[in-house]
Amino acid sequence: MLSISMLSADFGRLNEEITVVNNSAADWFHLDIMDGHFVPNISFGFPVVKAIAAKAAKPLDVHLMIEQPEKYIDAFHAAGAQYLSVHYEACTHLHRTLQHIRAAGMNAGVAVNPHTPVFLLKDIIHETDFVLIMSVNPGFGGQAFIPHSVQKIEALKEIIRSEKAATLIEVDGGVNLQNAAQLCAAGADILVAGHAVFSSVHPEETIKKFQDIKI
Ligand code: DX5
Ligand code: ZN
Repeated sequence: MLSISMLSADFGRLNEEITVVNNSAADWFHLDIMDGHFVPNISFGFPVVKAIAAKAAKPLDVHLMIEQPEKYIDAFHAAGAQYLSVHYEACTHLHRTLQHIRAAGMNAGVAVNPHTPVFLLKDIIHETDFVLIMSVNPGFGGQAFIPHSVQKIEALKEIIRSEKAATLIEVDGGVNLQNAAQLCAAGADILVAGHAVFSSVHPEETIKKFQDIKI
């Protein structure tokens, strides 16, 4: 599956950019929420999420790069999120936070920074609908893919298998038409793409090319 990061979209033409994704072969909208504390950048908040939700014809996959994400779970559900990921590094009571996300009616995701080993997820894998492996340091679109992420995908796939869990693996950051096949072969179920799509001349065709690569 392919989730399109709107961080690299032209926000002055947000309606048209949403239409491009709606009309494309993409599966989800990926919305990056940054608070200027957990990551050294600020992106957008509820008014923008609601505006996208009102026009989006596909599920919203909301990636919270914020401190104390547990405070905003119900608000993101009300804003239209169907998939909600919180960072492992930002949650003292991750198990409780994942239960809260599910109880609110959303799919619960755990995002891990490049330095966080995936073996730390073993004991919460059954509470986790998807793991988002950050393949760049979070905070900005358009960064270079960190190659070690491939081994993390493989190691996580093995944990999911051995635990007989149904958890999906999402990969976020520096994904492009050159590395997509390798990521899927390593075990990725969902790829996030922002810069590779919106910096291309024909975003809709680029999305089609991604889908052709993936199984
Ligand atoms: C980075 C974000 C990513 C990013 C992906 O902090 O979580 O979702 O926008 O964008 P590209 O595809 O540009 O690396
Ligand atoms: Zn993201």
